[in-house]
Amino acid sequence: MRWDFPSVHKTAEEESKSIADDKALEAFRVKYLGKKGVVADMYASFPTLAPDEKAAVGKGANDLKNFLTQLIEEKKQSLLSQPSAKKNAIDVTIPGAAHPVGHKHILTQTVNEITAIFEQLGFVIHESPEIESEFNNFTALNIPVDHPSRDAFDTFYLDTPDPSNKGRKLLLRSHTSPGQIRIMKDFKPPMAVVIPGRVYRPDAVDASHSYMFHQLEGLLVDENVKFSDLKGLLTVFCQKFFGKDIKMRFRPHFFPFTEPSAEVDIYWKNRNAWLEILGCGMVNPKVFEAVGYPKNKYTGLAFGLGVERMAMLKYGINDIRLFYENDVRFLKQF
Ligand code: DAH
Repeated sequence: MRWDFPSVHKTAEEESKSIADDKALEAFRVKYLGKKGVVADMYASFPTLAPDEKAAVGKGANDLKNFLTQLIEEKKQSLLSQPSAKKNAIDVTIPGAAHPVGHKHILTQTVNEITAIFEQLGFVIHESPEIESEFNNFTALNIPVDHPSRDAFDTFYLDTPDPSNKGRKLLLRSHTSPGQIRIMKDFKPPMAVVIPGRVYRPDAVDASHSYMFHQLEGLLVDENVKFSDLKGLLTVFCQKFFGKDIKMRFRPHFFPFTEPSAEVDIYWKNRNAWLEILGCGMVNPKVFEAVGYPKNKYTGLAFGLGVERMAMLKYGINDIRLFYENDVRFLKQF
């Protein structure tokens, strides 16, 4: 017999034990089962064999081929399950890489912070449209026809006629206070709401003015609401927003829609100055009259604060334009 089959089996099996990667396995396959491999050699020798040898070599070669095929398959599987092979495979159990998708704008964060405080105090959040009627923005708030803020230079009027008031034009609200009128027309007291949103004034843009900025309106209406409620509420709010040892003061002021009215100032240590942060007061009975509430039944408190102003004071931002330029070097800091 030209081949010692049992010893070829044994040698191949021994050799296969040292196969450590796909490349070595492929070399092993080529050596034994390739076109010029050991098994092919055996078949190639057929024509030279004596008839009685042919049967034995044929069987031996076939058995060897089956044995090697199985050996190679098993080796392939065991290589796949080895850690070194896993290195190149996709491990679906690894947590996904954190991908930066940005974050909320500092103004959104500030509005959220302010509304969260008022929610804790029992207020609900409402939204009110940016396009308003002259009635809601001025008349119902007791702002007289000759008031400068109603002037075309101080308000953005649209070309769109007001469907509820023939001959008048709709406008971009100049403050969030018309939200008070809408809420009071839609709901009955008791009520406690805050209304955040954008407001528009045709101001020249500089470090402290913009043609668009954000306000937050507050309104609480019930029977027997007192000025002390307003003072207490806004004191608690300012302490929660700016910190417990904030110094604040209520300074008498005038607003047509509140009586009495005040402005609140916060003392800013590093600037050694009082800075105004909001307007407030007790709802003027004329406003209740405009929304059709019964005479002398309700009292209410109201306030309106500038969101940019609050953020500028809290975070030391000195130019309002930074909020709208969307320079990531600025935005990333908050
Ligand atoms: N609407 C006023 C403004 O834009 C702010 C304001 C003052 C709102 C007093 C109020 C208030 O609700 O009571 O200047």
